Amino acid sequence: MSRINAIYGTGGFAREVIPILNEQYPNDDNIFVIHREHLTSEKCINGYSVMSYEDFIDISSKEKSITVAISDASIRSRISTIINQDGVRQSSIISNKSVIMDEVMISNGTIICPFVTITSNIRIGQNFHANIYSYVAHDCIIGDNVTFAPSVKCNGNVIIEDNVYIGTGAIIKQGKSNNPIILGANSIISAGSFVTRNVQASTTVYGNPAKILSKSSIK
Ligand SMILES: CC(C)(COP(=O)(O)OP(=O)(O)OC[C@H]1O[C@@H](n2cnc3c(N)ncnc32)[C@H](O)[C@@H]1OP(=O)(O)O)[C@@H](O)C(=O)NCCC(=O)NCCS
Repeated sequence: MSRINAIYGTGGFAREVIPILNEQYPNDDNIFVIHREHLTSEKCINGYSVMSYEDFIDISSKEKSITVAISDASIRSRISTIINQDGVRQSSIISNKSVIMDEVMISNGTIICPFVTITSNIRIGQNFHANIYSYVAHDCIIGDNVTFAPSVKCNGNVIIEDNVYIGTGAIIKQGKSNNPIILGANSIISAGSFVTRNVQASTTVYGNPAKILSKSSIK
């Protein structure tokens, strides 16, 4: 009997991720799921069935897993907690076209898109999203629910705390082994930024070198 593998979400990122899942498990049932209240009339998107999360949970006859493909960290974290409570396995999706080197620890729910490189001695928390053409270099530690938009360049010795969002094309300068660069929890790194120093928790930064984004700083 084939397994059923679900992508939670039907938005742009979810539609980019389901072909990676299908490439890995061509003989399984690969579907989109979303809570019933968010379902539209579409029963099929890009050739993949759409099912309510509630119906998915009720299926007892098949081995099943799910991966949350929602970019917003707080929604992703909330859905992931619900899935844990429902006792369904959250699996990682790692593109065959990505490169992962030595001593890399990846936790559940991670999505590694095509052309991403994760080099050596790296620890990654739950529900990490690395969008196309991003990289993580040596000796980095990444927390839970961290999001890399496309082409994020995270150089060596960087610590990224939980729920950090990094926009397209941002570059994080390398830290030192005894003085890593730290991106504080819930911070946002604006697209195209070059981050040269620590970013405080819950702060948005932008520009080169990155500075705090506030009404006064953009005037
Ligand atoms: C940082 C970010 C999240 C802020 O988004 P936001 O809260 O919606 O804010 P806005 O885009 O409305 O910008 C607020 C102000 O900051 C300015 N601003 C935002 N980012 C800026 C940047 N990188 N450089 C200079 N100014 C910037 C805007 O021009 C705007 O100024 P205004 O009020 O004078 O018009 C957003 O700019 C960003 O980088 N998003 C990531 C996009 C991305 O990578 N998407 C990938 C999808 S896969």
